[in-house]
Amino acid sequence: MEKQWWHNKVAYQIYPKSFYDHNGDGIGDIPGIIEKLDHLAYLGVDILWISPVYQSPLADQGYDISDYYAIDPRFGTMEDMDRLIAEAKKRQIYILMDLVINHCSDEHVWFQKAMADPEGEYGNFFYLADQKDGRPCNWRSYFGGSVWEPLPGTDKQYLHMFHKKQPDLNWEEPRVRQEIYKMINWWLEKGVAGFRLDAIINIKKALPMKDYPADRPDGLADPGVMLAHAEGIGAFLKEMKEETFQKYHAFTVGEVFNEKPEELAAFIGEDGYFSSMFDFRETAIGSSPKGWYDNRPVTGEGYKAACFESQERSADIGFYSNIIENHDEPRGVSRYLPKDQVCEASKKMLAGSYFMLRGIPFIYQGQEIGMENTDIPSIDQVDDISSRAEYEAALQAGLSEEKAMEAVRDYSRDNARTPMQWNGERHGGFTKGTPWIKAAPSYRLINVEEQRGRKDSVLEFYRSLIALRKDPKYEDSLIYGACIPYLREQKGLMAYLRKGEIHTLLVMGNYQGAPQKVELSGTYEKVLINNMDRFDEEEDGKICLMGWQYVILEMRS
Ligand code: GLC
Ligand code: CA
Repeated sequence: MEKQWWHNKVAYQIYPKSFYDHNGDGIGDIPGIIEKLDHLAYLGVDILWISPVYQSPLADQGYDISDYYAIDPRFGTMEDMDRLIAEAKKRQIYILMDLVINHCSDEHVWFQKAMADPEGEYGNFFYLADQKDGRPCNWRSYFGGSVWEPLPGTDKQYLHMFHKKQPDLNWEEPRVRQEIYKMINWWLEKGVAGFRLDAIINIKKALPMKDYPADRPDGLADPGVMLAHAEGIGAFLKEMKEETFQKYHAFTVGEVFNEKPEELAAFIGEDGYFSSMFDFRETAIGSSPKGWYDNRPVTGEGYKAACFESQERSADIGFYSNIIENHDEPRGVSRYLPKDQVCEASKKMLAGSYFMLRGIPFIYQGQEIGMENTDIPSIDQVDDISSRAEYEAALQAGLSEEKAMEAVRDYSRDNARTPMQWNGERHGGFTKGTPWIKAAPSYRLINVEEQRGRKDSVLEFYRSLIALRKDPKYEDSLIYGACIPYLREQKGLMAYLRKGEIHTLLVMGNYQGAPQKVELSGTYEKVLINNMDRFDEEEDGKICLMGWQYVILEMRS
C-alpha cells in the first residue's frame, strides 16, 4: 500500500456550537476553538474535523448552509477561520471542513431563485415536481414525514431527504456539480487539508422516482430502500475527486451508510473516491427499522463481532475511520457499556478497544474525558429535530409518553451536543453567558481540568493511546499491520493482534465486570499500556485480567 500523509494521524471532531464560547453569547465559536488548540495539542491529535460553521439559519445546526463562502456570524468571521487554519498549522494540526453538499438551506440564494422562478436558471438545481400530479414518490425523510414539500408561492413541490429547510441539490444537473467543485477548490486554496463528506451517499437518487412498500404506519418507505435502488453514484464521486481533492492530496472521509459491500474498494481502495469512510457497523448494532424505541441494547459480544466484521471487510482494501460516537449519536460510553458499569476503567477499556483497530481513529469532543449521556427530563427540553420525529414515531406505534422518552434519552443527538466540560465551574466552564443547550450535570465530576495531569484519568489514558499509536517505532504494526482477532470465541474478551513486519502487539480488553483468565499468544517483551496498576501473571502462560482491564503487550517475535 502506498503511504499517505494521513495514515498515521489521529483525528478529533469539534462540534463548534458546543466546544468553547469565547464571547459569552452562549454559543461556541471559532475564536473559542483557537483558544483551546493547546488542549488539542496536549492531547496529541493531528486532524480536526470542524462541524459546519458556514452561514446558516441553523435549522439543523449548520448542516443547512445558506452561503458556502461565508462564516456564520454566530461562529465568527472569515478572518477567524483563517486564523484558526494558521494557528492549527503552527501546532502541526490539519483542519477538515464539513462538506454538506447533498443539500443546502432553503435560504441559499439558489433556492431563493428557484422559488422566484421555478422554470428559470435555478429550477433545475433542485428536484422540483408539479403539485397537481401528487407526490412523485413515498420516500420518508430522515427526520420524519414525506420528502416532498410545497415550493412556497408556486404550484411546484421540492424534495428534501432531511429537514424541509434542507432542499436536496440535483446532482444530475452539471451546473450544480461545477458550482460545488468550485467551492471545494476555494476552500482547499485557503489551506484546509480536506473534508468530512456529509450524507454523501444521498447525492444519487434512484431514478425515475417511484414508490416502495410502506414500512411504518405513516405509509412511507425508509430512505435506505431508495438508496439500495440507486445506481451510479461512482460517476459523481470520481468526477468530484478528480476535479478537486486529488489535486491537493486532500484527506477525505465519507459519511457513508448503506453502501453496497462490493463498492467498498471503489470508495476507499487505493484509487478510491475518498481517503477513508466511517465505520458505522457498531453504530447500527441493534438498530430497528421501526425507530429508536425498538432498538436493542449493545452487548460486548455484539460490539466485538461488529468491529471484527468491519476489520475483515476492509483488511485488503483500505482504512475505515473508527469511532465510538459523533454529534449524531449518544455518547459511546453510555451506549457500548452496561449502564451500571460505566466507570473510568470501563471507559478506558472501550477507548483502547476501538482505538487500536486498523484504520484512522476519530475522537469526538468530550470523549477524551469520558463524557456521558445527559439527562433529558421531557420532550420540550429537546433541541434535536430527529429526536422529535423519533418521539412521534414511538407514540404512533402505541408507546406511552414515558417509554417514548426513554428512547429519546438513550439515543438523542442532544447527548453529544451538550457543552464540552472544561472545568467544574458553572456550565462546565463552556461559557460565561447562558449556554444555548444545558450542560450535562456530570460536568462537576467529569471535566478537563480535573483530569489533566491526574495520571489515572481517562484523559491521560487517551494521551497514552495517542502517543503509542503515533510512535514511529510501531508504525509497522499499529498503522500498517494486520488486525487479527484473538481468541474470538472467548466470551467477554475483546482481543486482537496487530501484526507488522517487525512488531506484533497483543491488544486485550476484558469487556465485563468479572475477572477472566486469558492465554497469551506467546511470550511478551513488555507491557506497553495497562489501564490498571496490576498485571497478574499466572504460571501457565496465562494472565488474569481484572474486570474491565485493558492491556497492550509487545510480543516477542
Ligand atoms: C449528517 C449529519 C447530521 C445532519 C445530516 C443532514 O448525517 O451528520 O448531523 O443532520 O447529515 O445534513
Ligand atoms: Ca460565542
